[in-house]
Amino acid sequence: MALVEREASQILVVDDELVIRQILADFLSMEGYQVETAEDGKAALEKLDSTTFDIVISDMKMPRIGGIELIETIRERGVDVLTVIMTAYGTVETAIDAMKKGAYDYLLKPFKMEEVIRVVERGLQNRKLQRENMILRETIALYRASEEISTSLSLSDVLDQLTGTTLRELPADEVIIHLTAEGGSVTLCTRASRNGHKYQPEHLELSALLHAHSEGQLVLAHGERCPQYLTADAPAVTSLLSVPLKVPQRLVGLVTAVSVTPGNRFSEGQRKLLSVLGGRAAAAVDNIRLFENLQLTFRETIQGFARALEAMDRYTAGHSDRVTRLSRLIALELDLPLEEVETVTQAALMHDIGKIGCQANLNKPGKLSAQEYEIFKAHPTFGRQILEPISFLRPIVSGVLSHHERWDGTGYPDGLKGEDIPLAARILAVADTYDAMTSSRAYRKALGHEVTMREIQRCAGSQFDPAVVSAFERAIERYREECRQRGVAVPE
Ligand SMILES: [Fe+2]
Repeated sequence: MALVEREASQILVVDDELVIRQILADFLSMEGYQVETAEDGKAALEKLDSTTFDIVISDMKMPRIGGIELIETIRERGVDVLTVIMTAYGTVETAIDAMKKGAYDYLLKPFKMEEVIRVVERGLQNRKLQRENMILRETIALYRASEEISTSLSLSDVLDQLTGTTLRELPADEVIIHLTAEGGSVTLCTRASRNGHKYQPEHLELSALLHAHSEGQLVLAHGERCPQYLTADAPAVTSLLSVPLKVPQRLVGLVTAVSVTPGNRFSEGQRKLLSVLGGRAAAAVDNIRLFENLQLTFRETIQGFARALEAMDRYTAGHSDRVTRLSRLIALELDLPLEEVETVTQAALMHDIGKIGCQANLNKPGKLSAQEYEIFKAHPTFGRQILEPISFLRPIVSGVLSHHERWDGTGYPDGLKGEDIPLAARILAVADTYDAMTSSRAYRKALGHEVTMREIQRCAGSQFDPAVVSAFERAIERYREECRQRGVAVPE
């Protein structure tokens, strides 16, 4: 095991004295390490640019770039390598200074070879543990985050999980997600930060980032290499990492992490971590969009049926749209959560969908026969039968089924009473009645607004929920005023 590690371990010896370079290189090679040498800090940095080393053993005083500057540059560039500094007796303070700047250990000249081996082995062991630790931590984080992202059901959940995980696992000050449509236009931009926003999405040069991702380039930059991804007036950043949100053949967005804290740099391992998470998030975003599109198409199809049904009768044309508008106003007036407002709106649009199942002319002049009235009364139940098999429409079923229930329990189909009637249905009942009364029917003319309001108020507590009626009174007055200002006709 030890031999395999030694064979894989690469050491760079940096000293301006040829003899020392040679002695160390020969001795460490005999111990099984792969060794290269450099005559000063500058030559060492060139080697570090092209080759990966585990340990750099460097002299302190050298021409061009010395030991301290070499350590500082290695740290600045975020090179993943341990540094050991060699120094003469009597300059221990300098060695300590080097360790403060990031050196892992030091060797005092003249050194014994056993000591060099001991320092190298301890360094390699430390590196191995660090790596294992990091891999384990990253694997666990990745597993957890992937799970969370995959089980997210809404777009905002997916994006929250992605920004949350990025802030937790990376030294990022700001995480910015852009979702894009085909052609690269941004459809959504969201962000999260560690300690208050220190960076603005506008400071990112989005076209440069999108171009880099479309070319498959890796975007991981530090310090002076960052400005190519930033606008001219952007504040300086320490480190910038951006990965694409990609599904096969298609970019759905990008996530960019920014660090403005000195010393906080993103590593290659973190880039890979974010890439994997980005892939999961992209798949989830794409699925949710597909699902939403499917839902929308489905909804529009059903609404199309409902409108077609209304259009067959000139008296009911536009009824569902008007009931929807009024129901929404009441739901907003009652301060319902937006999700419930949406449910009420959808239920209103489809409240009479069950009339598709009634094979009779329910809007003929004159009264309905007893038999026709029984058929008419079945339309909420038919509505339920139509909507119930469609899982995403299930939240609106109770509103549709119960919109002819009455507050006093004398309605149909179930004779529900008071708050046993779903709130959506209580709202629909008021909106439905208002629109029916203020519209002409084959058997009567439209009633005026005032008369209708008086009738609705009279029936608060018997037919209608009094709280819904009072919300309606407030909402309708405001709505009528707005309509007048916009020149839109309202029932007089
Ligand atoms: Fe109805």
